[in-house]
Amino acid sequence: MKTSVVIPVVLAQAATVSAWGKLGHATIASVAQQYLTPNTVDQVQAMLGDNSTTYMGNIASWADTFRSESGNGWSSGFHYVNGHDAPPPESCHLILPEDCPPEGCIVSAIGNYTERVQNKKLSAEQRTQALKFIIHFLGDITQPLHTEAFGGGGNNVTVTFQGYKTNLHAAWDTSIPNAMLGISPPTYAANITDADFLGWANNLAAKINLGSYHKDVRKWLRYHALPTNRKGAERAAAAWAQDSNEEVCDYVMKVPGNQLNGTEIGGDYYQGAKEVVERSIIKGGVRLAGWLNLIFDKHTGFESWH
Ligand SMILES: *[C@@H]1O[C@H](CO)[C@@H](O)[C@H](O)[C@H]1NC(C)=O
Ligand SMILES: *[C@@H]1O[C@H](CO)[C@@H](O)[C@H](O)[C@H]1NC(C)=O
Ligand SMILES: *[C@@H]1O[C@H](CO)[C@@H](O)[C@H](O)[C@H]1NC(C)=O
Ligand SMILES: *[C@@H]1O[C@H](CO)[C@@H](O)[C@H](O)[C@H]1NC(C)=O
Ligand SMILES: *[C@@H]1O[C@H](CO)[C@@H](O)[C@H](O)[C@H]1NC(C)=O
Ligand SMILES: [Zn+2]
Repeated sequence: MKTSVVIPVVLAQAATVSAWGKLGHATIASVAQQYLTPNTVDQVQAMLGDNSTTYMGNIASWADTFRSESGNGWSSGFHYVNGHDAPPPESCHLILPEDCPPEGCIVSAIGNYTERVQNKKLSAEQRTQALKFIIHFLGDITQPLHTEAFGGGGNNVTVTFQGYKTNLHAAWDTSIPNAMLGISPPTYAANITDADFLGWANNLAAKINLGSYHKDVRKWLRYHALPTNRKGAERAAAAWAQDSNEEVCDYVMKVPGNQLNGTEIGGDYYQGAKEVVERSIIKGGVRLAGWLNLIFDKHTGFESWH
């Protein structure tokens, strides 16, 4: 019965290295695809060597696989920034650069890879890797718990979600998004299909184009500006991280983490969380599209958005 011991350990590790799960990351990437300019599409598809309809969704979780492979631990800290605020909900505020350690955080990583993807002195392989990191990190930065230190970003807050034992961080990464689409089980073990994330991205794009999110697009792109060098990118990423961190006080840990600890969050808490997840995924998609358009086509592509 040795394997019955080994398997849960492996699964537990997989859970702690996740960010938005596959569904969240692939949906953000697919929302972004809808707003890329033709020039950007050509260059991104060429760099990724993928002309399929899911060319960005296919690699959106690559950085999570990469960091879990041996020797790549150096990239783990690039997926988040630990906001050492007063424990939420008392106050949520990132202090930069203090909250970003010398080894790096998601803010410095977005600066680094935005510079590297454009650096013609690097090999094609290095620039492609930078692109894949950007597609992933502009997703991670909208997951509120990727900007919060309390309880290890919620990883140490044990909860159940509709009966499944998990933690607050993993619930936001995977359980809540899966449940929103009726995908079972609400854990990373669920099989996510292309139809799942393409379908969700289409629904979200309709809401962006015609619905209540339309008026927010310009606000979300406020920090999108040329030149997209390291400094400019870090400034933008710091603002995006701060925006996510505020969601921690507004909703995610409005009930303090130590009170959420040990509770079932698949009921009322889930009902309120859906809206935050939807807005975060949409925001990530819009920002990613505008960012890639700036990098590859020198404009956001949203100039005529009214
Ligand atoms: C994608 O399409 C372009 C333009 O048609 C072509 O040059 C390229 O070889 C295609 N790439 C792949 C991986 O099929
Ligand atoms: C920038 O990216 C390279 C390549 O992944 C990495 O080796 C380096 O540590 C990164 N630098 C910073 C400051 O994040
Ligand atoms: C949550 O509860 C568990 C078990 O009682 C405990 O080990 C853990 O430290 C608690 N986490 C937080 C963030 O208080
Ligand atoms: C979370 O739990 C892990 C494992 O028990 C521990 O190493 C870590 O210090 C904890 N983090 C926080 C912020 O409580
Ligand atoms: C996911 O797919 C694999 C391979 O087809 C299958 O073995 C597994 O049972 C599926 N898991 C779920 C939760 O449906
Ligand atoms: Zn990640």
